[in-house]
Formats: sequence, structure tokens, C-alpha cells
Amino acid sequence: MNTFRILLLLVLFRGYLGAAEPGPRPGTEPQPPAYEFRPGSFDGTGKWFLGREIAHFMSHQGAPWLERQEREAEEAPARLVAALGLKPGQRVGDVGAGSGYLTWRMARAVGPTGRVYANDIQPEMIALLRTNLAARGITNVVPVLGTTTDPGLPAAALDLILLVDVYHECDHPWEMTRRMADALKPGGRLVFVEYRGEERWIPIKPLHKMTADQVRREMALHPRLEFVENLTHLPRQHILVFRRKAADGPAGPQDGPVPTP
Ligand SMILES: C[S@@+](CC[C@H](N)C(=O)[O-])C[C@H]1O[C@@H](n2cnc3c(N)ncnc32)[C@H](O)[C@@H]1O
Repeated sequence: MNTFRILLLLVLFRGYLGAAEPGPRPGTEPQPPAYEFRPGSFDGTGKWFLGREIAHFMSHQGAPWLERQEREAEEAPARLVAALGLKPGQRVGDVGAGSGYLTWRMARAVGPTGRVYANDIQPEMIALLRTNLAARGITNVVPVLGTTTDPGLPAAALDLILLVDVYHECDHPWEMTRRMADALKPGGRLVFVEYRGEERWIPIKPLHKMTADQVRREMALHPRLEFVENLTHLPRQHILVFRRKAADGPAGPQDGPVPTP
């Protein structure tokens, strides 16, 4: 083949070759992650993510456990809220808020000019939360009924999102995290509080604990997020703090797909 023919072929196929090029295309939805389905613990879901079996979510029928008296000593909620360093006027999220055990504490910390978006997937939990907030005269909370793939939070609006004892039971953790990153302002923090999986003495079922390494591995799939610190203020739980990067560009295809472990 002479040079002219080779050049002609290159010109003709340029568009085709260009279209096949890998890389982000604006507006393209990322691929869903590769969740695995295989047997695991007797009380697990059989759904796995990066080598971790996802736990069943806690039914609203277990809500009295969330309000148990011993929780003060076991989890030190006031110390947790103090460690978050919330400021008056901030807009924050409590994802998987349950009966509102942390919500009202956060609501007081951000004050009357601030706002807490309290999300859950169970309407019964949202109803309980409303009752508990009304009993305390708290009026700066917006209850949000979310889905397991979308917490339904406002976009790029929040200074901080807190999940206490929730992430390990999200049945679509990757999708939830992606949407939570959407909801954070640049620089906003995403905070996971989970019972420490590294410590066997902590009397919580294994699937309902997480190691810091596992949470960090899962967050590493979201390039818009960066790890900030693991605060060690609590008796039994990690406080793992991530941040939405100051300038992160679109949540393009670089967010997925997730490699199968
Ligand atoms: C163990 S409770 C913790 C409640 C509350 N954070 C607390 O510490 O008291 C877990 C809560 O997470 C909720 N949950 C589970 N998966 C969720 C998801 N994908 N999105 C929002 N909430 C979820 C459950 O409905 C339940 O109310």
C-alpha cells in the first residue's frame, strides 16, 4: 500500500477511531459497580461489595434500641457532635437518621439559622423522627424519605453529611456515596461513624461493624472524595472523615465501574 492510500485510510477512519477512544464523555452516567451475590453469614444479605458482605438494614421495629439509655455510655453522642465542629448556620445531612438520635443534637449545633436534612428509607422511621423532634421543639430539620440509591438531598448544598451506623447496611453503597458527594459543597465533609471492625471485644455482630481500611477502600472509588482523618474520640466507633475536593469537575465515568474483588 502506498503512502497516499495509508493517509486516505487514516483520514476516513479518524472519526471512528476517535469515537472508540476511552475516557470521560460529558454527561455520561457512570457504570454501576460489580456487586457480587454469593452465600455469606447466616444473617447477611448474600450481597457483597469489595469483599464485604452487606448487612440487612435495621427495621423500624428495632427503633427502641436506638434510644436505649446505655447508648450514652457506649457511643458518647455529645462527644461525637462536638468532634464534628458544626457551626451555627450550617446546612448538614443526617443520612439514615432513624428515630433522630443524632438529628436533634445536630439541629441544636447548627442553630435556628442552620438546617438538618434528616433522611431515611423507612417512612416509619421518618414518622418517629418527626415525633421525637416535635417533643423537643426542634424546627430546623427537613425530613427526607430517600431510596436505597438516592438520599434525595439538595445538590452541592451541604457542609457535612453524617452517617451513624448506617453505611454497612446500605444495599447500594456506591450509588449512595456518589449521590452524597453530589449533595456536598466543594470542601464539604462526609463522615462515617461505624463500630470498629478491628476490635473483637466490641459486642456488635460482625456484619454491623466496619474496619477503617474497608471504608477507605470503598471511598477510594470516588475520585471526588478525599480522606481527611480518623478521629478516635469514641469508645467503640470510628469517626471516618472524608471531604469533597475543592475542585472536582463532573462526576464522570471515572467513578465506575468497580473492579470485582
Ligand atoms: C442502625 S440504624 C441507625 C439510625 C441512626 N443513624 C442512629 O444512629 O440512631 C440504621 C438506619 O439506616 C437506615 N438506612 C439503611 N439503609 C439506608 C439507605 N440506603 N439510605 C438511608 N437510610 C438507610 C435504616 O432505615 C435505619 O433507620
